[in-house]
Amino acid sequence: MTLPPNQPVRSFAPGSPERASLIAELARQRANPRRVLPVINGKKVDTGTSTDMREPHAHANSLGTYASAGAPEAQAAITAAIDARHDWSRMDTAARRAVFLRAAELLAGPFNDRLLAATMLAQSKTAFQSEIDASCELIDFLRFNVAFAEQIEAMQPLSSPAERNRLEHRPLDGFVFAAAPFNFTAIAGNLAIAPALMGNTVVWKPSERAVYSAAFLMDLFEAAGLPPGVINMLPAETPAAIGDTVFSSPHLAGVHFTGSTAAFDRIWQTVGSNVSRYRSYPRLVGETGGKDFVFAHVSADVDALVTALVRGAFDYQGQKCSAASRAYIPLSLWKPVTERLAEIVSSLTMGNVSDLTNFMGAVIDQRAYTQISAFLDHAASAPGHRKIAGAAPSDETGWFIPPTVIACTDPKSRIMTEEIFGPVLGLYAYPDGKLAETLALVDQSTPYALTGAIFAQDQAVINQLSLALRDSAGNFYINDKPTGAVVGRQPFGGGRRSGTNDKAGSPFNLLRWSSPRTVKETF
Ligand code: SER
Repeated sequence: MTLPPNQPVRSFAPGSPERASLIAELARQRANPRRVLPVINGKKVDTGTSTDMREPHAHANSLGTYASAGAPEAQAAITAAIDARHDWSRMDTAARRAVFLRAAELLAGPFNDRLLAATMLAQSKTAFQSEIDASCELIDFLRFNVAFAEQIEAMQPLSSPAERNRLEHRPLDGFVFAAAPFNFTAIAGNLAIAPALMGNTVVWKPSERAVYSAAFLMDLFEAAGLPPGVINMLPAETPAAIGDTVFSSPHLAGVHFTGSTAAFDRIWQTVGSNVSRYRSYPRLVGETGGKDFVFAHVSADVDALVTALVRGAFDYQGQKCSAASRAYIPLSLWKPVTERLAEIVSSLTMGNVSDLTNFMGAVIDQRAYTQISAFLDHAASAPGHRKIAGAAPSDETGWFIPPTVIACTDPKSRIMTEEIFGPVLGLYAYPDGKLAETLALVDQSTPYALTGAIFAQDQAVINQLSLALRDSAGNFYINDKPTGAVVGRQPFGGGRRSGTNDKAGSPFNLLRWSSPRTVKETF
């Protein structure tokens, strides 16, 4: 079975048609603030509350407001999902898949600018970062998941003339709760799309920090012909307001989560304490935190390494769970690497993303700004830290944290071991001869195992490092940055405290949303 091609990434170069049309859509959205409402059984429900949605890079600008769902809306969404499940799960699988292929076509067509502009304005992504997320990755999730679902259906057990055996891919026996992060519109979409494609119905909570782009996603699902009740959207300023209802429902059959390790821990605890209430054991699929490494061997190509550090650490302001945030550099390469890094990092531009010139935008909100600033304050006051690059943060017009590189003499420094989720890269210089000790540090100094990269040009060393760091990352990159997994090429996910490693953008993830029935028919 052939897989579809990836959606091509466009340049948005000055003079290109995509640039002109995106600029027009940015202006249109800015001129038309939205009121976003929960969507339950295909109907918008105004709860009367009002939370402002701000542009992170220009926080005086409001994109509109949203109404928060609470316990009654959560209960109504569960009822809608359970009611919709009967018809949706029995629908011909080809017809079900056609809905998602239609969504892909709409997203590649008339919806493209809408999702791109919404992701730029609400999440402060540059045109390029928005393109690889809200356009390419989301279109790929839609198309590839359809192809993977066909592959899964084609994998059938043996039969003989006297008996016919088959596996029927039924959805889970209940509803799936999908809880999304702010940082990727594509991930937010896929958390609902993957279970729905396999016949499940979904209660979908977008991040309270990215409700604006989620509303455009909901428009897309509706325009593609998704029946009411299959995906019910519950924005909630206080997520616990809906969580209590969702997690105490006997019909909870699965959780599809991307977000913090602490939040996923709470989900496991809550599900554990409610386990005897459920009709079936809920499947818990989560992608959580990371403290992703770059390890340079003395044979590394310095130019390639520095490019990867800059892109890996500072693309989208470091707000990717895959972001490079700790690097181990051999002493003999320390000078050229740090000099080159300082030079490039100080030339990076940061500002309003809608002018389409800056390399970086702002971090998502005041809370993120304060949390990341606290790490910078720690590095400025605690001994053993030296700033190699990085200007002062400012939250005057937007939540701007400049790209910052900090040399740490202690590899156990908080900068080297804690998830910062911002544009801060910790560096540690290791003696060239202490390879084994340093690899042990890479593996052991954080509880995470999401992504990691090694840089070396010696093939025997590459093999040695790959083996030594085998359990340290679910996505392992050799001579490339640890971010930017592409659907259909690098299935994404990690282990340890980074999640359940159910590989988004692969058949492994889709299998989690199936409860197969084995049918034996005897002749
Ligand atoms: N999939 C993204 C990446 O690889 C992170 O979630 O960067």
